[in-house]
Amino acid sequence: MIILGINAYHGDASAAIIADGQLIAAVEEERFNRIKHCAGFPAESIRYCLNAAGVDLVNIDHIGISRDPSAHLHKKILHAATRIARNAMGFAGSGATNGKRDNGVFGMISDRLANAAKVRDLKDELSRALRVPRETISATFHNIEHHKAHLASAFFVSPFERAALLSLDGFGDFVSTMWGVGEGNQFEVLDEVEYPHSTGIVYTATTQFIGFPHYGDEGKVMGLAPYGTPRYIDIFRDMIRTEPDRPGFVLNLDYFLHHSEGVEMSWNEGSPQIGRIFSDKFVEIFGRPRDSGDPLTTREEDIAASLQLRLEEVGFHILKQLHALTGSTDLCLAGGVALNSVMNGKILLDTPFRRVFVQPAAGDNGTALGVCYYIFNQILKQPRGAVMEGAYTGPEFSDEEIRAVLDRAGVAYERLEDRELTNTAAKDVADGAVTGWFQGRMEFGPRALGNRSIIADPRRPNMREILNERIKKREPFRPFAPSILEEHTAEYFEQDHPSPTMLMVYPVRREKHGVIPAVTHVDGSGRLQTVNARTNPRYYQLISDFHKLTGVPVVLNTSFNENEPIVCTPQHALDCFLKTRMDVIYLGNYKVRSRTVLHNNSTANCTQED
Ligand SMILES: [Fe+2]
Repeated sequence: MIILGINAYHGDASAAIIADGQLIAAVEEERFNRIKHCAGFPAESIRYCLNAAGVDLVNIDHIGISRDPSAHLHKKILHAATRIARNAMGFAGSGATNGKRDNGVFGMISDRLANAAKVRDLKDELSRALRVPRETISATFHNIEHHKAHLASAFFVSPFERAALLSLDGFGDFVSTMWGVGEGNQFEVLDEVEYPHSTGIVYTATTQFIGFPHYGDEGKVMGLAPYGTPRYIDIFRDMIRTEPDRPGFVLNLDYFLHHSEGVEMSWNEGSPQIGRIFSDKFVEIFGRPRDSGDPLTTREEDIAASLQLRLEEVGFHILKQLHALTGSTDLCLAGGVALNSVMNGKILLDTPFRRVFVQPAAGDNGTALGVCYYIFNQILKQPRGAVMEGAYTGPEFSDEEIRAVLDRAGVAYERLEDRELTNTAAKDVADGAVTGWFQGRMEFGPRALGNRSIIADPRRPNMREILNERIKKREPFRPFAPSILEEHTAEYFEQDHPSPTMLMVYPVRREKHGVIPAVTHVDGSGRLQTVNARTNPRYYQLISDFHKLTGVPVVLNTSFNENEPIVCTPQHALDCFLKTRMDVIYLGNYKVRSRTVLHNNSTANCTQED
């Protein structure tokens, strides 16, 4: 039984395919069309999924999308009618003129109707995008409510037989947050938080105010938070209030515009665009919003710290209540806010949960996967079986394909056998080389996990500056992440619950701060990836070889890209290598050196551990 899941007309458009319950492929459209967080229709992703499964569209049994325009329809209509009435009465909101508001509301409603029509007629969209006659598609079509897809994406591929489930998000199908309980091949939704209340909206509004305007910039604010002190916590407690005796919360809507103004949002082809959603109340309290080119000050750091602390307070309130409701100590987490790895890392300390599974593509990309398993398990009542241990579900390329790319580009290369490959790469990393590492199947979700990664020496205090100056060109306050051999986690970190997809931040043990300074954040924490030989044997071998050379079982791992989506193909990787100042790149079993001299600056700062 073949099932195709799709996330379309939402951020991070994506597709996934399963065969008899086994995950065959899952991938985001941005990796193919090179547009970050691309919305629109994931035609290339669907083509790849079909190829990976060796089938055509006509062979698919079920096709689903993570949107259900009929979910909460009466509330959507009521909300639209209220907005139209408010505008007709010239309701005095902040900001725009009546004329602009009218255009905003009617424009927004017509955009949403057009968007919903595309979602409803998925068969038409598919037949057009893949150039397949509509009448040849015989699959059964499903519209799966957005948050049910998030919950399914986390539970059905988790290792847990029974678990509490939480989707913590921006919005989807008029809901921001949904919780439930899963057992076997079924889950039950217990309750939800509806529009306009959303933790994701609070994070996005504050991110905009701090001067990071792009979709997906919330992670930058999480990285900024440890520099500040939460002196604005009372304001954020006024902005988002928890509900006693329920895993819920409500927003003080005075701080926001998304519910009252025609905030422009675009989910068509291209990167998603979201207009300003913080209100003038932010400006009255904090002063002028920071322009993206302005320097960051302690004000922005303190706002970020206050926001992060409040998110954790609200998140842990929800989780404690959810534990009380379900009695489970196992938790499955998804939704865009579940990408907040700082909050995730504190769950075991601050709540009764003892094991946590965070879906690696916790954002909307992962709903394509959730759709597949919702159909397979929840609707068709098929038995569970798939456990997602890594996120290596994207395209891969043979050595022959890689060599053809290198030959066409006319670059010099050498071929290494497996043991020599990881040994040589480990030596390059230990010698200070910024090392491209392109191997196996591409990762699904926002994190590079050792297959589309740039690897560097975590012992060098200046490695962050080197990477930023030569390749990443990103804000200097943002940390780089460590990959550690799983069995050494407790030696370096104060917690050792596995974090295989880099969605947990733990404190680095104090005595190790000086050992791995390039991956220890300003507050002494690290967003770690725990690596084992089962999930990624070649990456495990590389880190093991580095460990043998240096005594340190950790490498710095950052995504293989330069201000673009993570590379997908050998050509993308080679292009990135040639336009940046990377020292060396390993593509499959091939090694390509930079034409410039290997960056081999002083090793005096390195710590050799016995
Ligand atoms: Fe979502």
